[in-house]
Amino acid sequence: MNVIYAKNYQELSEKAALLIGGQVIRKPDSVLGFATGSTPIGTYQELVRLHRESGLDFSRTVTFNLDEYFDCPISDTNSYHYFMHDHLFNHINIKKESVHLPDGMAKDAQAECERYEKMIAEAGGVDLQLLGIGHNGHIGFNEPDDHFVLNTQHITLTDSTINANSRFYKNREDVPKTALSMGIGTIMKAKQILMVISGTDKKVIAEKALFGPVTPQVPASILQFHQNVTVILAID
Ligand code: GLP
Repeated sequence: MNVIYAKNYQELSEKAALLIGGQVIRKPDSVLGFATGSTPIGTYQELVRLHRESGLDFSRTVTFNLDEYFDCPISDTNSYHYFMHDHLFNHINIKKESVHLPDGMAKDAQAECERYEKMIAEAGGVDLQLLGIGHNGHIGFNEPDDHFVLNTQHITLTDSTINANSRFYKNREDVPKTALSMGIGTIMKAKQILMVISGTDKKVIAEKALFGPVTPQVPASILQFHQNVTVILAID
């Protein structure tokens, strides 16, 4: 694991964007895995800047997002589809048809998970997966459990995640209770992983995930077994 200590959030965002940008320059038709949450927002801003000011070209890039709320239309400003377009896709030259997120309005959640997993495999797998981390150690929406989830699945969110997400909603009852998320197995198949962790409130979980025992109770700890992980930390 390659751990980089950034002096602040801005530096974390710049470094993460440069690593993603480097991947796109090396392989213009890269398959990029993207994440939501507040931590990668700065990374997306920097990618937009690299596109505008340095001509970083996403025209051949393909993307797959980690997850999407279930039963949540893409017009909902809290959908991850909305988030990604708002923060990144609307501001770079990626083709519409190259952007993929699980369909949160699918009638058959299980079939949608299988379709998503198959699409990733058919695209040749993810070259570089960007990840944040939840306070309970979740990646994507893979919550602490007694086993690691293999493939894209319909996941029931824990109270801790629903509480964390409720900051974006007027009422806690409106926060989606389930989501479709790449599994731990899907994430581990990515050729490279880039994790961004920011804020003193993430210090305890970052230590557990990066240096503690590998356990499904801390889903991100599995990354210790991945061969090509870079973690950028700005946690003071
Ligand atoms: C959500 C997303 C995760 C993300 C997490 C942390 O649960 N599904 O992919 O890592 O939020 O978000 P934040 O960076 O806002 O703490």
